[in-house]
Amino acid sequence: MDRRELLHWLRCDDALELSELWQRADRTREEWVGDAVHLRGLVEISNHCARSCHYCGLRAANRTVRRYRLTEEDIYRCALQAVQMGYGTLVLQSGEDYGVEGHWLAGLIRRIKAATPLALTLSLGERTENELAAWREAGADRYLLRFETSDRALYQVIHPDHGGTVSDRIAILRRLRALGYETGGGVMVGIPGQSYESLADDILLFRDLDLDMIGIGPFIAHPETPLWRARSPLPTDNQVPPTVEMTCKVVALARILRPDAHIPATTAVAVMHAGLGRELALRRGANVIMPNLTPPQYREMYAIYPGKADRIEVAEACDRQIRSQIASLGRFVGSGQGGRRRRPAAPSREHPATLKIAVCMGSSCYSRGNNGPAIETMRQCVEAAGLIPDISGHLCENQCTRGPHVTIGTTLYSNVQASCFDELLRHHLAVLREEPHG
Ligand code: 5AD
Repeated sequence: MDRRELLHWLRCDDALELSELWQRADRTREEWVGDAVHLRGLVEISNHCARSCHYCGLRAANRTVRRYRLTEEDIYRCALQAVQMGYGTLVLQSGEDYGVEGHWLAGLIRRIKAATPLALTLSLGERTENELAAWREAGADRYLLRFETSDRALYQVIHPDHGGTVSDRIAILRRLRALGYETGGGVMVGIPGQSYESLADDILLFRDLDLDMIGIGPFIAHPETPLWRARSPLPTDNQVPPTVEMTCKVVALARILRPDAHIPATTAVAVMHAGLGRELALRRGANVIMPNLTPPQYREMYAIYPGKADRIEVAEACDRQIRSQIASLGRFVGSGQGGRRRRPAAPSREHPATLKIAVCMGSSCYSRGNNGPAIETMRQCVEAAGLIPDISGHLCENQCTRGPHVTIGTTLYSNVQASCFDELLRHHLAVLREEPHG
C-alpha cells in the first residue's frame, strides 16, 4: 500500500467501498494477532505537566486544573489491583512531570516488577536519556510516546518546545527502541491544520518506525486550550475531520501496514461515540483496550479532553462491561503480558524485509568514517531501497588496515565509504537476487 492508495482510502466516503477496507483490516488483524484482546490497566499517576501543548487540557498554562500526584503506595495498590483483575500489563501515564523523579520511579518499577508478573509500560512524556535508560534498567518493558503528527510545521505550532530543547519525538522513539523498549507511537486524527497528505505520512511513519504499539484517537477540543474553536488554516476539503470514521480508517490502515502491532481501541474513540466507538475500532483493526485503574477521586482531574472522565467508572464494573463487549464480538481476553510477538512473513512491498547491517565500531574503523553521520546515511539508503534497516554496532573485526568494515546481511565489506554506500547496497542486493534460493 503506497501513499497514493492511503490517500485514496482516507478520502473515500463510499460506504460500500469502505467495507472492503474494514474487512481487509479485520482479516489482517485476525491472521497476524488473532482474536485475543489484550487488557492493559492504565494508571494516571500525575496530572502535573511542564508543557503547554495547544491541544491538551493538562497544559501548564491551564490554571483551572486541580493538580495531583499519586504516592508510591497508591500506585503500588493499583498494580496489585491489575494483577487481581487478570491484566498482564500496567501502564503508568502522566503529564510531563519532573516531580515524578527519576530515582523514585526506578525504585517503584523495581518493586512492582519484583512483586508481580506484570509487564510495565511507561507514558511519561519526553524525559531525559538518563531517566529513560534507568527506567529500562529497572525493568520497564515498554514506552508510549505519540508523535501526534508527522507534519513538522504543525507539530511545532501545537507542541511548543520546552526548556530550550527542540522537541523531536520521532528521534526519541528511535532512542527508546535502541534502549530495548517495545515502543509505541501514534497520532491524533483531525487536529486543526492536519491535512490528508500529512495523515498519510503519519501512517507510513508507523511502518518506517516499526512501531510495536500504535495509539490513534480523534482530536477532541478542550475549552481551556488554544485549539478550542480553532479555525483550520487549510481549505475545508483538505482538513481531516476529527470523526470516529476517520479514526477507524487510520486504525485500519495502521493494521494493514503494521500487521503485528498492538493497536488499542482508545478512550478518545469510545468517548466520541459512546457505546459504538470502541466496538468499531475493535472490528476495524484494534486488539487492545486500556481499562482505567486510576483511583476514582482523581479521574476527573485527568481531563486531557472533555468527556474523558465523565463516566466515573468503578474498575470492576468497567471490567465486566469490557469483557462482555469482547465476548459479544466473538473475541476473547488475551492472557499473559501480551507483548511483542513478531511473526515473520514473506516480504512484500507492504511488509518489507529487514536488512541487518553491522557496523564495526573498532577505534580504527570509527576514525576512518564509521561514525554517526555515516550510519545515518546507511539507514537512509536502506530505507530508500524499500527495506527496514536494522543497524547495530559490533566489535572490531581485527582487520583494521582494510577498514572501515561494514557487514550487510552476512557479507563483510571492507573500505566502506558512506558516500558510496548506496552503490554498495545496490550491488549487494543485486548479488542476492541472482543467488539461487534453496
Ligand atoms: N483530544 C484527543 N486526544 C488528545 N491527547 C491530548 N490532548 C488531546 C485532545 N484534546 C492525546 C495525545 C497524547 C495522549 C496522551 O492524549 O495524543 O499523546
